[in-house]
Amino acid sequence: MKNKVTLGLIGFGTVGAGVAKILQAHVREMERRCGARLHLKYICGRSLRPRPGVRLSPETRFTRDWKELIHDPELDIVIELIGGYEPARTMIEAALAADKHVVTANKAVLSKHWGDLFELAARRRRLLYFEASVGGGIPVIQALNEGLAANRIERILGILNGTTNYILTRMERQGENFQTALKDAQRAGFAEADPAFDVDGIDAAHKIAILASIATGGWARLKDVYREGITHLEPVDLLMGRERLDSTIKLLGIARWAPEGLELRVHPTFVPRQHPFANVRDEYNAVCIEGDAVGDVILYGKGAGQMAAASAVVSDIIFLARQVASGTAGQIPYVNYDSSRSPRVRPVEDLVSRYYLRLTTLDKPGVLGRIAGILGRCGVSIASVYQNVEDGGLSGAKQVPIVLITHKGREKSVQMARRVIDRLPSVRKKTSLIRILD
Ligand code: HSE
Repeated sequence: MKNKVTLGLIGFGTVGAGVAKILQAHVREMERRCGARLHLKYICGRSLRPRPGVRLSPETRFTRDWKELIHDPELDIVIELIGGYEPARTMIEAALAADKHVVTANKAVLSKHWGDLFELAARRRRLLYFEASVGGGIPVIQALNEGLAANRIERILGILNGTTNYILTRMERQGENFQTALKDAQRAGFAEADPAFDVDGIDAAHKIAILASIATGGWARLKDVYREGITHLEPVDLLMGRERLDSTIKLLGIARWAPEGLELRVHPTFVPRQHPFANVRDEYNAVCIEGDAVGDVILYGKGAGQMAAASAVVSDIIFLARQVASGTAGQIPYVNYDSSRSPRVRPVEDLVSRYYLRLTTLDKPGVLGRIAGILGRCGVSIASVYQNVEDGGLSGAKQVPIVLITHKGREKSVQMARRVIDRLPSVRKKTSLIRILD
């Protein structure tokens, strides 16, 4: 038994400061849960500027050199919180190679290098924990990896990005415009350093790839995640959702295991009002995991923000420290990775769904007929058509939004129809396509 577990923190930004706060606030509780004292020996960052609410112990050293931590024989656990692909990946690999256990919140590195990292961790018999990488404060990694281990996972559905959920909530409820809502999310500390990662769906793609990798025991590769963001959405889409579909729009990450392969995608989706996800607002996230034995399990909580993410990081530290203290850490891997279990991902063209199409056309005779003809020739069946909807800012020009809702159809056919429709001279803008969750 060890009575002290030594930690080094790389990255002292918003989440790093939150971790330091929790470690200080619950010192006795930590000791009780870990069976050892937690000693934060290093903080490594660009500068040690004071952080509100953080008082560092004189025992904690500041350094700008991450290699100092990794090569300190006393150090047991490296906590990587700098985010981004590089140099974070190099640091994590160097830490594992130097026989340190690692806690990270880095969904970008994990999703891109999943197989390599877990092979390395297994070779070195070190543990790599990553609860904060998905769902902020929601313990979804533990739940999927351990709590639901008895199940064959059939589907995972998630609101996985707090920033976009915050933006969509503001657009819908306060009629706020996209840019203002994004600025608020940045001020609140939810957004990525480059907010394109949030609004283009990249962050959600990282997260669904991680969840799908855990569920399969292989590696669901980031490049195989079909991805659309929320930048093309207009207020009229939210309005139409409310009035005509009794639905709201959420950016969903979806992994569905079908006999033909794994569907793996991130895109805005109409979610019916009666679905629990419709009430997930602001920076909150929710994940629904469907297992063959358990049925549906829904997890809900703050998906972004300082203390939510710090809660997940510190829970990893506790689980790891307990194993380090008892001398069992690394005897069995945290995640079972076997490259032969990597899933075959189905092309999005094979998807079958109902679709919402918003066309921006000139308001003149025959236009709708031509559009309906194209859809019919492509094998797409129209369920309803709406024109003269409130135009979401397009008035003044002789252009009107036409909204079409289709019956279930194949994505390939809908995409083909859209390409042909968008070449018509009377169609003035790229047609917007949103999938409808059944
Ligand atoms: N930018 C991320 C989000 C942070 O908005 O969800 C948490 O991963």
